[in-house]
Amino acid sequence: MSASNNKAPESVIKRIEQLRSEINRHNYLYYVLDSPEISDADYDALMNELKGLEEQYPELVTSDSPTQRVGAPLSEKFNPVPHTVPMLSLDDAFSPQEVIAFDQRVKKFLNSSQEISYMLEPKMDGLAVELIYENGILVQGSTRGDGLVGEDVTANLRTIRSVPLRLMAPSEGSIPERLEARGEVFIHLADFREINSKREEAGEQPFANPRNAAAGSLRQLDPAVTASRPLDIFLYGVGVVSGKEFKTQEEILEYLKSVGLKTNPLAQRCRGIKKAIKYHEHMTSIRPELPYEIDGTVIKVNSIELQQRLGTKARSPRWAIAFKFEAARAITRIEKIILSIGRTGAVTPVAVMEPVKVGGVVVSRATLHNQDEIQRKDIREGDYVIIQRAGDVIPEVVKPLKERRTGMEKPFRMPEYCPVCGSKLVKKPGEAVWRCPNPQCFPRLVKKITHFASKNAMDIDGLGPKVAEQLITNGLVRDIPDIYTLTLSDLISVERFGEKSAQNLLQAIEQSKTTTLARFLYALGIRHLGEVSAQRLVEHFGSLEKIMAAGPGEIIKISGIGDELANSVASWFEDPKNRETVKRLLAAGIKFKDVAGKAGSKHLEGISFVFTGTLPNLKRNDAKKLVQQAGGRVVSSVSRKTGYVVAGENPGSKLEKAQKLGVPVISEEEFLNIVKYS
Ligand code: IVH
Repeated sequence: MSASNNKAPESVIKRIEQLRSEINRHNYLYYVLDSPEISDADYDALMNELKGLEEQYPELVTSDSPTQRVGAPLSEKFNPVPHTVPMLSLDDAFSPQEVIAFDQRVKKFLNSSQEISYMLEPKMDGLAVELIYENGILVQGSTRGDGLVGEDVTANLRTIRSVPLRLMAPSEGSIPERLEARGEVFIHLADFREINSKREEAGEQPFANPRNAAAGSLRQLDPAVTASRPLDIFLYGVGVVSGKEFKTQEEILEYLKSVGLKTNPLAQRCRGIKKAIKYHEHMTSIRPELPYEIDGTVIKVNSIELQQRLGTKARSPRWAIAFKFEAARAITRIEKIILSIGRTGAVTPVAVMEPVKVGGVVVSRATLHNQDEIQRKDIREGDYVIIQRAGDVIPEVVKPLKERRTGMEKPFRMPEYCPVCGSKLVKKPGEAVWRCPNPQCFPRLVKKITHFASKNAMDIDGLGPKVAEQLITNGLVRDIPDIYTLTLSDLISVERFGEKSAQNLLQAIEQSKTTTLARFLYALGIRHLGEVSAQRLVEHFGSLEKIMAAGPGEIIKISGIGDELANSVASWFEDPKNRETVKRLLAAGIKFKDVAGKAGSKHLEGISFVFTGTLPNLKRNDAKKLVQQAGGRVVSSVSRKTGYVVAGENPGSKLEKAQKLGVPVISEEEFLNIVKYS
């Protein structure tokens, strides 16, 4: 329907308003309260109706419409935003004694011997932001910055589903002219792990911890990238709230909740510091089960009047303290620093240490990231070092114990040449990572071949790292396309290959020739290109030819694809050697069943499937192939957007979630009927 010049009838205006409040209410139920009332399909129907009406009457689109979360263009930089009221930080305490001392200071300052009433809250390990609502509409969002001036990240904060674009009015006239709400943006651990495994698959550096992942995602110049990262928020405080006086911190939290903002349900009020210490102990014990990282508890004097009397110091208030968990730490010795060469040639120094237990896990390796990092921390081979693991997270070397040096320690220097193939290492200006430029470098080639053959790529069963190493060592495989020239006699000549295993491998190679374009693109091992972005390229361009011909300017137009990825894809296909690889692969008989003009019906386009439990007859991967052949998608977690959950024997928690969200649950037999239908 094209835009109309007609003035919208009253009934349409009314319906749009109705739809928006209805959708906002369901967003709130789903994203803030985590208890949805309607099914995916019903939600989509409301959203589609609203989108349709807004397309027809674009003059009625408002910035707070639920259709307008993503869509802001890429920005060049973030503008500074001064905070009306400074965003303070907190003093730390690490022991009950320090917390008791804090309580005594408070009492002394107030000249009171009475027990203080405290509000206790988990200390979220994310990054602090401020949301500004004017007359209930989200008008600006910013980071804390240095506490006085933050950065304008409005477009990115709008993509967070638990951030309402419009506040709820608990009662008539209860929405203030201006509301400044403060809180913490964070990422759930499950999402953090998923983002990191995708980054690793795409040859990118994983985030060191959830906080970095949240911060990196929020400080993205492309809001589409932020939108693709599932961030969440808990609000815990306010700046200016016009016309409103709060008596307690508890009241502030209740108020934030009443206008539809998400607050942490674990917050509690207590009387006396002993209870606060108990609460901290309780948090310590439930911490391993929480779906997000916390790094302590925040203890806040509950009364605002007392808070005002106590006042603030330069950067932190006298009325609150952060009771932090100690990170699990241990001391060990670095035996040597080795270099690991990744699939994209990145040469990463890794500390090999005497094994030591940290936070219940034996650790013997830790990435040292790069030469700059090693120099900054002055880490040497032979050094005793403190290592730490925060919660769930990968171990890191905190610092060397210089006082334990004997003089035998060896400073690390990144070699000029690749330790494996001898090529001169290269580094792009502005990057800290050194790379081996030789695509044929042994460990690179092994990783490249195994990535190509991996389950989610070309799915060549039996072509793991060991076999890849043998094929390369025997000179049978020098590059990816050589996989398709292997013969039975070639394989039999390789040690440990019997006729049967050789035939099995050849058959798996043959089967891999019929695949999807997205899998193929992903299998090529282009830097930054993960499965999701590969699928996006296919959806946008529709054919390999068009993708190969696209410049970065065209690729970047795709929502969710940033400039790094766009440049990487475009320059990969520009390289004549890579074009040759693609040609050889196509010549070997690789065919795509998912792109226009090719065989196969696509009746499942836009429909996602989640598998749980063991299917009686089908292998997971074969089931996945069937879905993809029909144009559908297989995803790993259940949401209201999921089309079907296919449950086999011993299904997991996904089944429960599906039932809770009203997502249809089907058997293998029903599944086969659906995928085979055409
Ligand atoms: S209150 C004056 N409450 O901790 C009060 N902060 O070191 C200032 N944080 O920048 C903050 N959870 O990023 C407060 N429940 C909570 C918090 C919290 C996490 C972070 C926040 C802040 C930092 C202060």
